Amino acid sequence: MILTVRHDLDVVDPNANVALANGESIRFAHLDYAASAPCVRAAADAVEGLLPWYGSVHRGTGVRARTSTLAYERARERVAAFVGARASDAVVFTRNTTDALNLLARALPAGTTTIVFDGEHHANLLPWPRQLRLACPETPDAAVEAVAKALATVRGPALVAVTGASNVTGEVWPVQRIAAVAHAHGARVAVDAAQLAPHSPVVLADLGADYVAFSGHKLYAPFGAGVLAGAADWLDAAEPYLSGGGASATVGDRPGEVTWATGPARHEGGTPNLLGAAALGAVCAALGRADRAALHEREQELLARLRTGLASVPGAVEVTAFRGAAPRVGIVSLALPGRDPAVVATQLADKYGIGVRAGQFCAHPLTRRLTADRAAAPCEAGSPSLLRVSFGLGTRDDDIDRLVSALATLTAARS
Ligand code: ALA
Repeated sequence: MILTVRHDLDVVDPNANVALANGESIRFAHLDYAASAPCVRAAADAVEGLLPWYGSVHRGTGVRARTSTLAYERARERVAAFVGARASDAVVFTRNTTDALNLLARALPAGTTTIVFDGEHHANLLPWPRQLRLACPETPDAAVEAVAKALATVRGPALVAVTGASNVTGEVWPVQRIAAVAHAHGARVAVDAAQLAPHSPVVLADLGADYVAFSGHKLYAPFGAGVLAGAADWLDAAEPYLSGGGASATVGDRPGEVTWATGPARHEGGTPNLLGAAALGAVCAALGRADRAALHEREQELLARLRTGLASVPGAVEVTAFRGAAPRVGIVSLALPGRDPAVVATQLADKYGIGVRAGQFCAHPLTRRLTADRAAAPCEAGSPSLLRVSFGLGTRDDDIDRLVSALATLTAARS
């Protein structure tokens, strides 16, 4: 008898095979974690365990409703522990990071200026109503200086919205230093942790953040939940994100006669996504128990292997926003001068069973900037594009080696 020990952070079905164009089959090498990471056991088990008891949340007295309500609030506690939420913080379940940042954007006190760099992905670029947009800096130091300079010009409430790690380059932004500058100017800080949370702890106090947002589907819990966590005062003072049941405390007979709930319920109108929240809470708890330093070390090994391998592929040029070295998470984007990254990505899938992403990664201004000095970078529908490789839990050396070797073959071949 073979006993298999299952671990919470094991990827579900890591050995799934895919058919290649030539009819052979091969283990799928998933290298597109930055878009959607695979599900881990903790998330799948949480959902499976809850399904027999699935019922309504905060509505009903039957055993299913009670179990579901407890599970939902337990998930919130787990996420709260993951981000180190303080008594003055709220943890609101959303659909994803885009939803979370749109919620915060709607909750800003009147007249708030949001300072944001154009190196952000669209979720952290588009929602802010009154924004001061700064050019993507060439170094982390320049980022801190630019925020200080911008804040000196702002009158009234201000928010600095900054990414924890770039979804295009994987570079980690100097969030703590930006937060220190922001707080010195009386501004708040929101960290878009969509790409940071899967790779590093995102404790609010450690980041210096007032708000943190992230997505379950990038954090190994792909069941449609995300999170906005942070200072409750702005959220409690704002109009509900979705008007309806759950968000309302009392409703009168006439239009407009309503008092709204406070706390997370105010912004979670309608029946919430219990399974998504439970899955996300379970992964947060599993990561909380894990040796994060060991996970980080393993990821950095893979990153070094990938970057060393790619450096020997003549047709691939790694792009970075910052000049010089910066800390990185497991994301690398490449310009492929003379080739269309979309075509190469399709070939990687069809001929080699490797999944990556090509395009502009919902970060058009940054992608344009990163490709601007590479006149040879091909355009897809008139837009410059890149090929992105991203990885995390469960990625093997062999996945990286297959990608490097396939890319070397594809870029060497005549088109
Ligand atoms: N989900 C987007 C990505 O793939 C932003 O990076």
